Amino acid sequence: MTRGLWITIEGGDGSGKSTQSALLQAWLATLGPTVLHTREPGGSEVGELIRNIVLHHRGHIAPRAEALLYAADRAHHVATVVRPALERGEIVLQDRYLDSSVAYQGAGRVLDGTEVRDLSLWATEGALPDVTVLLDIDPAVARLRLDAADKPFDRLEAEKLEFHTRVREAYLALAAAEPERFVVLDAEQPAGEIAHQIRARIEAALARD
Ligand code: TYD
Repeated sequence: MTRGLWITIEGGDGSGKSTQSALLQAWLATLGPTVLHTREPGGSEVGELIRNIVLHHRGHIAPRAEALLYAADRAHHVATVVRPALERGEIVLQDRYLDSSVAYQGAGRVLDGTEVRDLSLWATEGALPDVTVLLDIDPAVARLRLDAADKPFDRLEAEKLEFHTRVREAYLALAAAEPERFVVLDAEQPAGEIAHQIRARIEAALARD
């Protein structure tokens, strides 16, 4: 595939993904190329419908059903939004991708992480980002940030600390397994410092093209 650059941002709830994603988008916009800022779950019309189910449905969703819903969102998003943009040579900046499923549905919901990953790879015909930024944070610190933000919790945010601790460990294991793709940053640093480290990594990726 002729391609632009595909960047994903990952991390636990309260790790500052949205802040960093916005800062990175603003910086990328100054460089010239077209930047598509998108997210999972969501990122397409069908995806927004699925997002509403997985984040706001009241009541139980069976773990495998939840994993399939995220995978369905991903399949449609990659096929109709991400892949076409990359083929046009654009930069795709995406909040969350398949690593979220391995961490949240795999470790969090205790499904088999390899199966969850394989499901997403099947859904997307093997699409993997060029760079994945992992904002790593102690879930107890992240919880304080979420409490301070005073917004209602979605289904995943409402999970207990043990859940979020398993999510964090799974993320770190994923990053250790693919050091070429991942950059792991300490999300307790000041936002400006984190943004600087992300830019350095993206500059290196752009220089390689
Ligand atoms: P996010 O969009 O980061 O939430 P917010 O907009 O409230 O900051 O992510 C929504 C939630 O979805 C988050 O708690 C993690 C969860 N999630 C999964 O469990 N599996 C997945 O595959 C994805 C993409 C997200």
